[in-house]
Order: sequence, then structure tokens, then C-alpha cells
Amino acid sequence: MTFLFNSDPERGAIFAAAFEAGLPDLPFSMDPDTFDADSVRYLLTWSPKGLARYRNLELLFSMGAGIDQFSADLVPSHVRIVRMIDEGIAGMMQEYVTLGVLALHRDLPAYLGQQAARQWQTLSPRDTRQTRIGVLGLGVLGKAVIESLKPFGFLMSGWSRSQHHIDGVSCHHGETGLRDMLAQTDILICLLPLTPETKNILNASLFSALPEGAALVHAGRGQQLDQEALVAALDSGHLRAAVIDVTDPEPLPSDHPLWAHPGIILTPHIASFTRPQSAAEAVIANIRRHRDGLEPIGLVDRGRGY
Ligand code: NAP
Ligand code: GLV
Repeated sequence: MTFLFNSDPERGAIFAAAFEAGLPDLPFSMDPDTFDADSVRYLLTWSPKGLARYRNLELLFSMGAGIDQFSADLVPSHVRIVRMIDEGIAGMMQEYVTLGVLALHRDLPAYLGQQAARQWQTLSPRDTRQTRIGVLGLGVLGKAVIESLKPFGFLMSGWSRSQHHIDGVSCHHGETGLRDMLAQTDILICLLPLTPETKNILNASLFSALPEGAALVHAGRGQQLDQEALVAALDSGHLRAAVIDVTDPEPLPSDHPLWAHPGIILTPHIASFTRPQSAAEAVIANIRRHRDGLEPIGLVDRGRGY
């Protein structure tokens, strides 16, 4: 029985040390060519490539929070997929989304344009207490960013598939709930997983349901965003600005219009990273749970797709 780590060697070394201390009886390997593929019961990877080799795989750990790369045709139905729930991912997402929301709230895209044009001009400031934030996705990351935005005094609401109750947050669900929230949102944050239901969800119809002058922080997945519709909504002035971390494709081709749009701050899918120490502890705890016959934390519901 082997645990195979299929990611970068720097983080692998930290995982190896944590496994030696926490699960000394479980052989740990970073090199798939040094043992029998049939011995692999646990695999940690970002990439779905070559999964079919591991015929006795029981748990497939995603190196990241997202699992959309593991499509049903690539992962046999008996294999359980576990997404990464790591305090490093959540902490960095809090930083990124707070940065994005404050940049939009304080008109950073417009001021960057003014700086390039050597233009000294004050834009009307906004009050956080009158600025409405809407969060798409109230999972681990959506809830984490809500907590980091609360101290600024923004008016917070959120949308999920099922009904949630979060202190100080107006929670919506379902199609009607989405429309209700969008009509009351000045800065929209997307932290949804990519599924057939959320693919292309950030489209022209959704943008038109936002109030004039609304803005977007998108840190979910590139395929959730209709990039042409975003550019059209920005060019028409309906949307004010956007902070975009994920695109389709990635990397974005150098001639793509998103790069140079004055209303867009673009980053190359860096909103958050998995931190090896805390991630290794989470994976070790899940293997112990699995051995005890318990469900792993972060088990993916393959029917729902997240
Ligand atoms: P999670 O805990 O699984 O939460 C997902 C949330 O989305 C849940 O609240 C869920 O609703 C909601 N949701 C899913 N499908 C929906 C639908 N059709 N309609 C309405 N709500 C829906 O996921 P997470 O850990 O917060 O991560 C979210 C995503 O962030 C990841 O899947 C990944 O794509 C992205 N991400 C990006 C980066 C980056 O660097 N840019 C880093 C990490 C993660 P329920 O609560 O009702 O189930
Ligand atoms: C990164 O995008 C992740 O899913 O962790």
C-alpha cells in the first residue's frame, strides 16, 4: 500500500517529512517508477494524467481546492475524490479577494489609468457602509472571504445552491435568489466551483442584472466567465471594472483583449496556493479517517460535481 505524491519536489519534501512523522507505516513516494502501480491506494495530484495506471486507487486527493480537472471519464467511479481544504488556500484567498474588493471600492483601475496619463484628478469616494458585496459560492472560500470583508463595514450578501445562515449576511439560493442578490450588488465576487451548472454563469444576462456601475472579482474558474460579455459590459459602461484571476484558456494568449483593457486588473491564477505543511496535515488526517472507516473531510459528491 503506497501514498504517491505527484507534484513539485519542494512541497513533496515537506509532505514526506510530515508523512514520516504522522503515518510512518505508510510508504510514501514521489517517483511513480520505483514501485508497483497496483500498490498505490492514495494519490495526491493536480493533474488527471495517467490515473488509469493506478487500478487499486481508493482516495484521489486534489492538490487544490478545485476538482473540475478530474472529469468523470478520467476517474473510475469507485475512486473517491477529495478536494483540498487547507488554511493556506483560505488565507491567501482572503488576501486576494480583499485586495480586489478594496481596489475596486477605491477606484484603483481608474487611478492606474490616470497615472499612465499623468492626470491628477479626484474621483468621488464611496462609503463601505453603502457598498453592497455579493458572493457567489458560500463554501469554505466564500465564507472565509466574507469574514475578512466584514470588518470594513460592507453590506454583505451571498448565494449558494442550498440555503445558508451566516451572521450579518443576507443569504440567497436558487435562481430567484440569484436575481434578487444581483439587483442589490455593487461588487460581485465569484468563488463557485466549475460544474455544468456554473459554466458560463458570468454572462451578459447576469451582468445586466447587476446595477449600473457594478464591479466584479472573479477567482473561481475561467470557464465560468464569458470574457466577451465582460468586455462588452465594461465598454458599454454598465460594469465599472473587474479583477480577474482565472481565464479561459490559461495562460491567456498575449494578444487577448483582456490583457490591455483599462477596466481590468488581471492576475495569472495566483489568488491562492496550497501550503504544504497545513495541506499535508489535512491529507494525513483524512487517511486516518479513511482507515477508521470515516468519510474524508472534503469528499466530493460526484453527482453534484463539487
Ligand atoms: P466549496 O467549499 O465546495 O463551496 C462551493 C460553494 O459553491 C458552495 O456554497 C455551493 O453551494 C456553491 N455552489 C456550487 N454549485 C452551485 C450552483 N449551481 N448554484 C449555486 N451555488 C453553487 O468550494 P471552495 O473550497 O469554497 O472553492 C470554490 C472554488 O474556488 C473552487 O472550486 C475553485 O474553482 C476556486 N478556487 C480558485 C483558486 C484560485 O487561485 N483562483 C484557488 C482555490 C479555489 P452549497 O453550499 O449549497 O453546496
Ligand atoms: C486553485 O485554483 C485551487 O483550486 O486550489
